[in-house]
Amino acid sequence: MANYKVCVVGGAGGIGQPLSLLMAMDPNVSELCVYDLTLAMVPAEGVAADLSHLNHKAVVKGYAFDKDDRAIDKAEECLTGCSLVLIPAGVPRKPGQDRKDLLNINAGIAKNIVEACAKFCPDAVVALIVNPVNSVVPAMCELWKKKGLNPKKIVGITTLDCVRAEKFVHEVTGQPVGGISIPVIGGHAGTTILPLFSQDAAGATIPADKVPDLDKKVQDAGTVVVAAKNGKGSATLSMAFAGARLGRAVLSGLAGTPVTECAYVESTITDLPYFASKVTFGKDGVETVHDLGPLSDYEKGRLEALKPVLKEEIAAGLEYAAANE
Ligand code: NAD
Ligand code: LMR
Repeated sequence: MANYKVCVVGGAGGIGQPLSLLMAMDPNVSELCVYDLTLAMVPAEGVAADLSHLNHKAVVKGYAFDKDDRAIDKAEECLTGCSLVLIPAGVPRKPGQDRKDLLNINAGIAKNIVEACAKFCPDAVVALIVNPVNSVVPAMCELWKKKGLNPKKIVGITTLDCVRAEKFVHEVTGQPVGGISIPVIGGHAGTTILPLFSQDAAGATIPADKVPDLDKKVQDAGTVVVAAKNGKGSATLSMAFAGARLGRAVLSGLAGTPVTECAYVESTITDLPYFASKVTFGKDGVETVHDLGPLSDYEKGRLEALKPVLKEEIAAGLEYAAANE
C-alpha cells in the first residue's frame, strides 16, 4: 500500500464529513486533511479529532479558515504535499433550483480553492464535486491550464450517476449488484446524464420499452433527493460513497494499479471539449479517456440530443473562466 496525503475541502459539510470518514479508511491514505470555513456547521478541527480515533493508519488534521480570507493565503500547510484534493465545497441546491443556478456562487468558491491547489499542490489530482459540474470543471480546468499545469489532473466527479444506475439496474433485473457496471456518459445534470445500460450484461436485458423510464430515473435521482430533503440540502451520503469510490480509484492509479471509472474530464472523444466517459486513472491522474464503445439506437439518439445542452453548459463555464482570470 502507498502513503498519500489527501485533502477534503468542505470536509465539515454534508458530503465532506462522510467522505472524510471513507477516505480516512483508505489504506493508501497516510494523512487526511479536513479543510473548511470557520463558519461550517461543525469545526473542521472537530471532524478531524473525531476521525483521528479510527484505528486506521491515516493521521487526520483539521484546518478552518475565515470566509473573508482568501484560501490561497492560508492553506499552505494543509495543501502542501497532497496527491489528491477532493472538493465537495459550495452551496447545494434547493427544491425548484437547477444545478446551473449555482454557477456564480460555486464557481467563485471553486476558483479560490483551485488557485490554492495550483500554488501549494500543483501536482495533485484535483477532483471537483461542486455543482454545476458541467460548467465548474471546464472553468477550473481552463484556469489550471493558464497556470501551465496539467489538465489531466482536473477531474469532475460523476460517479454518483454510475452508483445510481447500477442500483436501479439491480432493482429491475435482480442481478447481483456487485457485478453490475453501468458507464454513465455526457455530463452531470438533467438530460446530459446518459447511462449506457446496453454495455452491461444485466443492463442489456432490460426491455427496450423500459429503458427510457430507467434512463429518466437516473437523470432525476438528484432532484428526487433534493425534494425529499425539503430545502435542507441534496445528496450527501450517497455522494460521499461515490466520491470515495472515485478517490480510491485515483489513489490506486497513482500507486501503480490503474483503475477505470467514469469521470467528467477534458476530452477529445466527441466534438465537445469536456465530456464524461470511462477514464483510466494511472500514475499521472487521467491516463486514458476511453471511446464511448458501442451504443444502442436509443443511446445514439440521446447522445445527439444531449450535446447542444452540454455544449451550452460548457460554454457558461468557459465564459466564467474568461471573465474571472
Ligand atoms: P454543504 O453545505 O453541506 O457543505 C459544503 C461545505 O463547503 C460547507 O461545510 C461549507 O462551509 C464549505 N465551504 C463553502 N465555501 C468554502 C470555501 N471557500 N472553502 C472551503 N470550504 C467551503 O453542501 P454539500 O451537500 O456537502 O454539497 C456540496 C456541493 O456538492 C454542492 O455544490 C452540491 O451541489 C455538490 N454535489 C455534487 C454532487 C455530484 O454528483 N457531483 C452530488 C451531490 C452534491
Ligand atoms: C446529485 O446528483 O445528487 C447532485 O448533483 C446534487 C443535486 O443538486 O442534485
